[in-house]
Amino acid sequence: MKHYQIAALPGEGVGSEVVEASLVILQQAAQQFGFTVAIDRGLIGEPAQQQHGNFFPEATAQLCEGKDGILFGAVTQGGLLELRKRFDFFANLRPVRPSVHLRDRSPLRPEKLDDVDLLFVRELVSGIYFGASGRGIDQRGSYGYHTMQYWDREIRRVAKVALKQAQNRRCHLTIAHKENALPHLPWTRLVQSEAAAFPEVTIEPMLVDTLAMQIVMNPQQFDVILAGNLFGDILSDLGAVLTGSIGVLGSASLNAAGSGLYEPIHGTAPDLVGKGIVNPMGTIASVELMLRQWGEIKAANCLMQTQEELLAQGYRTADLMTRSEDKFVNTQEFVDRFLEMMSSID
Ligand code: IPM
Ligand code: MG
Repeated sequence: MKHYQIAALPGEGVGSEVVEASLVILQQAAQQFGFTVAIDRGLIGEPAQQQHGNFFPEATAQLCEGKDGILFGAVTQGGLLELRKRFDFFANLRPVRPSVHLRDRSPLRPEKLDDVDLLFVRELVSGIYFGASGRGIDQRGSYGYHTMQYWDREIRRVAKVALKQAQNRRCHLTIAHKENALPHLPWTRLVQSEAAAFPEVTIEPMLVDTLAMQIVMNPQQFDVILAGNLFGDILSDLGAVLTGSIGVLGSASLNAAGSGLYEPIHGTAPDLVGKGIVNPMGTIASVELMLRQWGEIKAANCLMQTQEELLAQGYRTADLMTRSEDKFVNTQEFVDRFLEMMSSID
């Protein structure tokens, strides 16, 4: 029997509610599909700051060391960038596949969503988030700066991940770039040179502003979209909203060893904290990505099918309620229904 060890870092806000809900589901998946999971819980963000005087304390870093995965909830600020950097989680995968059952929630017309299936691959540990930065003062007054700096090899390594993903999907890779204004960051040239090893994959460079517009106008044209850290942050929120709720999407951030950090795309949702009504689907989707990374494909598919089936039957957490026939469920009820439905799928 396979045995996995994970770290769970709930963080702040609704983080612990969504992480605990997802762990119950992960444990049932383990039982159902014949593996075991041991869970170590650690502090990050505000609770870590209060207890250790540090948003990402060394104790938490140690706890995450050597694990098969890290399941993360949410933080408002502090801790997350350090965690990504510490384990070199450079390739952030954010799949967007709008459910047919949630079409009425999308801001786009339903027919625009037919067959939409995007994967954002976002560089996560370099670029403007980590370049030289500071504040200063000179004769013109106070100023601030952040530097968008990429080593060519950082672009090449994330390009390889994106190319591999495209090869296993529909063989189309769009590169988000801004070379008309930022010519020293030649994403197109570097990705094209890596693409020589992936002859089946068609490469389409696109200016990031045009790309933002195209995601809204015609999302069906895209397969894999590769972007740097800042552009990827912005584009992936734009992509996420197509599904109708940012609460349903998960993400995986991988390093070269294939170890990963798994987190929902949504934030701490302070208005929902403690009410027991938060939607755990984004974290469950992140667990699904972790299972896929482990090769537990049956378990991952089971979670995916269960979620679709619950939506098909009309179950909705508060953020997804639109129609009078929707059946409202709180977080606990959603998990109970999920467990029940899972056991009938294998
Ligand atoms: C995300 C978030 C983070 C980011 C914030 C919380 C720093 O927006 O994961 O997309 O910009 O990377
Ligand atoms: Mg973001």
